[in-house]
Amino acid sequence: MEDSREVLAHTSAAVFRARYNSAPDCIVSSPGRVNLIGEHTDYNDGFVLPAAINRYTVIAASPRDDQNLVIHAEDLKSTMMLSLRDLNPRKNGAWSNYVAGVAMLLQQRGAALRGASMVIHGNIPRGSGLSSSAALEVASAYALMTLNNLDIPDLEVIRLCQRAENEFVGVKCGIMDQFISCLGRKDHALQIDCRSLEYVHVPFPAGVRLLVCDTGVKRALASSEYNRRRGECSEGVLKLAASLPGIRMLRDVTPADLERYASALDPVVHKRCRHVITENARVVLSVAALKAGRLDDFGKLMIDSHMSLRDDYEVSCAELDAAVEICTGCEGVLGARMTGAGFGGCAICLVKEDSAEAVMARLHKEYPERSGRTPGILLCTFEDGVSVHRFH
Ligand code: GLA
Repeated sequence: MEDSREVLAHTSAAVFRARYNSAPDCIVSSPGRVNLIGEHTDYNDGFVLPAAINRYTVIAASPRDDQNLVIHAEDLKSTMMLSLRDLNPRKNGAWSNYVAGVAMLLQQRGAALRGASMVIHGNIPRGSGLSSSAALEVASAYALMTLNNLDIPDLEVIRLCQRAENEFVGVKCGIMDQFISCLGRKDHALQIDCRSLEYVHVPFPAGVRLLVCDTGVKRALASSEYNRRRGECSEGVLKLAASLPGIRMLRDVTPADLERYASALDPVVHKRCRHVITENARVVLSVAALKAGRLDDFGKLMIDSHMSLRDDYEVSCAELDAAVEICTGCEGVLGARMTGAGFGGCAICLVKEDSAEAVMARLHKEYPERSGRTPGILLCTFEDGVSVHRFH
């Protein structure tokens, strides 16, 4: 699990040679992510602050003379052959839908794609909220673009990958995960305005570390609950627009306006809207705190974010709450929260460098006692986004 980007690339090339009897033409690696703050805001046109992490999905690929995609997922020991002339979402081998969705949208954009042989390999835990799916989409897009000499602007690739997940896989995700997997930068987080798509890299300060604690709870219900939350946000906008005619998304609603017109809303929808609107404000405050080196303030905003996700958005779970509580009970911890969509997956913890080992030890001891599960703990670093090596 601790393999570096280079080691993963090396292994992918070796697997490729063994399967296809030749060296790959290109190797693409795309990182997973944590989101420091700004959860469930991206699809409401709001703000987010993710960072790309030292976990990757790697694709080794070469063109073929036929119209097939032969894709071997090394970590699943599964191989699929898909025809580029007939790409449809599949139930068996569902992992290949991420690749197929991207290929289909590239074709719809006008590309005459060649067939390709691919090996996929990586170390982003699947279903853990670290965006293994976005990393696979982004790696697929750059691999196919490289093999077919397509030059497409970053933002267009990002949108295309998001559409592949929305339309082909059927998860109505926002744009954050694909964005950060493309445009992450070493030692930086990325503030994204999900309406204008303007972004700013924000340096991550020295002297603190970010821990990831994988609760081991797979996000089984995530996609249906996720889509339901989106629906509740749209309902909120629709009802509020009767009194606030200029609004398009929850991004446009102030906390004061929400409370003024709360009686128009179903109580559950009101809570959902309150999370999104207060979370947007927290992202803006937390970026200011980070830039000014006020890490205590940043950490408090993380904790507020977690409580809002737990109580108002209701996407946390007992295991995520336990991990966050263990972290916030430790000396040297500035803040902790769930990250990603929720319903399981990972918690993150911002901790002073000197205290990181002690927090990891506490999690190893106390998390199993509270949850009956073994945590997966990662001391992460912030890394560059997608990288492409072309050999021919
Ligand atoms: C998932 C989605 C993102 C975002 C987060 C929640 O990771 O893919 O677009 O909505 O959930 O913040």
